[in-house]
Amino acid sequence: MKIEAARPLMGRRLLVAVTGSIAAVKTPLLVSALIKAGAEVRCLVTPSAARLVSPVALASLSRHRCYQDEDQWNSSEPRPLHVALAEWAELVIVAPLSATSLARWSHGLAEGLLASLLLACERPVLAAAAMNTAMWSNPAVRRNWQELQTDRRVLPLAPESGLLACDRIGDGRMVDPKLIELAVVSGLLQADETGRLQRDWQGRRLLVTAGSTVEVLDPARLLINRSSGRMGVLLAQAARLRGAQVDLVHGPLKLPVAWLEGLAAYPVTSADEMQNMLAQLQSKADAVAMAAAVADVRRVNPAQTEKLSKDCLLQSFSQGWEQVPDLLAELVLRRPVGQVLLGFAALTGNEAQIQQLGEEKRLRKGCDLLMANPIDRPGQGFEEDFNGGWLLAADGSIRSLPVTSKLALAHQLLDAILEVQVVISAPS
Ligand code: CTP
Repeated sequence: MKIEAARPLMGRRLLVAVTGSIAAVKTPLLVSALIKAGAEVRCLVTPSAARLVSPVALASLSRHRCYQDEDQWNSSEPRPLHVALAEWAELVIVAPLSATSLARWSHGLAEGLLASLLLACERPVLAAAAMNTAMWSNPAVRRNWQELQTDRRVLPLAPESGLLACDRIGDGRMVDPKLIELAVVSGLLQADETGRLQRDWQGRRLLVTAGSTVEVLDPARLLINRSSGRMGVLLAQAARLRGAQVDLVHGPLKLPVAWLEGLAAYPVTSADEMQNMLAQLQSKADAVAMAAAVADVRRVNPAQTEKLSKDCLLQSFSQGWEQVPDLLAELVLRRPVGQVLLGFAALTGNEAQIQQLGEEKRLRKGCDLLMANPIDRPGQGFEEDFNGGWLLAADGSIRSLPVTSKLALAHQLLDAILEVQVVISAPS
């Protein structure tokens, strides 16, 4: 289980194409990460990319020769290379995608190995754009980028803001290779047999909470729990990659910061801060997923300035505590018409006990769906890459969700939310 978790791309065939943007210097890191995740990787560089990143480095990291334009009509290749590679790959990654390659692709031009391969390709293509801020905001580039979004086989990753090689701070930085790796795994899950990607969350807004909340005991000590925030953040990214607008309210997280790229993220610390942020964001959302592990109790009057001695700390455990308000139950009371609410419950016990405790909790909180998952089985739950359990619905149904990666589970939960949304918004 551990080995599979570390190798989510085992045996998958990926083609990494590099085009002429300075972000190309980061692509070797991506290739190395994909190989470590178990993928079979082939690389291709355009002529300008070959001046920025060494084809030799890409060949060593991918354990295979790196293709260039002059290989396209090589007499030793039995079939046209652009067609053979397009058919070989399960998913193509263009990272970085430069303004020139974007323009060629969106206009259907076939000059060069990559341009002709992209036209011949019937599999999903993940496109991570990178360029100077002024180029990215140029109307011609915006039009080409918009054009690309109409293709259901393309998973577009718009650049992030940051310090660029041209010394400007602005939009144009290629997303982090760690996020590209996550999007690759998601793209393979989202693609149907014709290579088209799910876009069923387009036009919808999801509000997600993730991580733990933190309560102060004194200036030196905190009350926190084991949540890494993985389930909530993967749910947020999976929804975004399916076209949703996502607001992520999160406590401290134990995962790569790159996984937050592209999300509207609102960091909070205490349950009070989370409650206030949710109150501001709830009305805009079509669905809310409460994956955060909210602290159950807090000190009524935490010591703000003076550190408690060991004796005072021990004494403080027996008095002066209160329950944290139930944020999910409050969201249910305030929900706008048609909003779907998903809760989570980390539970221990056998299947029947978990289902019973989960159903009691779902009824108490009033949410439409509750994901009840065991945390007393090795390899799943808190701080793990895998999770599974039972999805309890307001219509009394119980769906078994066998242990799988948290990203795959996120997609299953997004499917379930949409199913409920269809039912509650159907005319009665
Ligand atoms: N939750 C919440 N506010 C709280 C506690 C929990 O919104 N103060 C949400 C969690 O985000 C989760 C669901 O409620 O979606 C269930 O969390 P859990 O900790 O299992 O529920 P509790 O109400 O704390 O139940 P228990 O008394 O068993 O600890």
